[in-house]
Amino acid sequence: MSYRETAQEKLKVLQKKTGVCILAIESSCDETAAAVVKDQRAVLSNAVYSQIPLHQPYGGVVPEIASRAHIEKLDLVVSQALQDAGLGVDEIDAIAVTAGPGLVGALLTGVSYAKALAFGLQKPLLAVHHIKGHICANYLCHADLKPPFLCLVASGGHSHLLRVEENGVSLVGCTQDDAAGEAFDKAARVLGLPYPGGPQLDKAAQKGDASRFKLPHVKADKQYDFSFSGIKTAFINLVHSINQRGEELPVEDLAASFREAVVKQLCDKTFQAMKDFHWDTLVLAGGVAANSLLRQRLSEGCQALQAQFYMPGLEYCGDNAAMIASAAFDELKHFSLADMSLNANPSMPFLNRNEA
Ligand code: KG4
Ligand code: ZN
Repeated sequence: MSYRETAQEKLKVLQKKTGVCILAIESSCDETAAAVVKDQRAVLSNAVYSQIPLHQPYGGVVPEIASRAHIEKLDLVVSQALQDAGLGVDEIDAIAVTAGPGLVGALLTGVSYAKALAFGLQKPLLAVHHIKGHICANYLCHADLKPPFLCLVASGGHSHLLRVEENGVSLVGCTQDDAAGEAFDKAARVLGLPYPGGPQLDKAAQKGDASRFKLPHVKADKQYDFSFSGIKTAFINLVHSINQRGEELPVEDLAASFREAVVKQLCDKTFQAMKDFHWDTLVLAGGVAANSLLRQRLSEGCQALQAQFYMPGLEYCGDNAAMIASAAFDELKHFSLADMSLNANPSMPFLNRNEA
């Protein structure tokens, strides 16, 4: 029997079984991660090797360094995940991997590793979209959460408002330019804060006065779309003009003002969509879900709307493989099997616009 035939047979058995354990690999950017998840929600292990110290001297992710570091660490991280889960590799039912989007070289390391492992073990291979993983991070934290819900995904590469239903995901709004995380990272950089900028800016903002600097309130063309490039440009100009006057940068107040402008827009659009379409459940996902003000505002706003609000624990906001394993259970359910022709797709499409 060919690999594909064997994997298909095994996948059919898994669809009817409980206690299914998936080993997932995530290497789309600057974290080398592996995890084992049982039945979509139970995290048996979650090993992450962060490359932050390697990229810090350059002020951002260097793709070539990221790929090389993934190659060096993948085997160790996978062994760690199996050891922490207390499972031998033969006890794993299927292998999952992030196939895109992300840095092509970085993705390729994980995809190649996962293919080799799946072939060697003759186990099913499941390809996962990174953003789907971020959404599913919430299933790891909330036993009662299930579709339908409105989901705000804010990460380094994406800002999406999505309607998540049992049989699929559709787009309500998305960014017309920068992603929220990207905007945070650029603002942090002009403030001279070290990489990764978003968390550093959030920390500085906690001690600042958000009302000191007014940034433009940008209205994106489409009602539920976001736009952060106008806020970013106004912020960069503001910082340059303070620098040109030879004044010391009030970093905390600047950080607080910028964070306020970005969070306000994310919240305003999200609450507008919730009201317009009568959503009573909101889910937050993506790296920016770690932002303290965003978490607080969405939580307060949902309380005011008498809506349920779910967000991932901080350990599941950033990139990790447990969220990829959780998302892989949907691939399993829909019999969406990958095979040895799987390739990394740096701009893997997610969905088509389908107004709510
Ligand atoms: O989801 P993620 O790991 O990347 C993508 O999948 O694209 O998110 C990383 C992004 C970075 O831009 C990082 O600066 C941002 O999330 N981020 C934050 C915070 N923590 C991470 N942005 C604002 N406040 C935070 N606390
Ligand atoms: Zn991510």
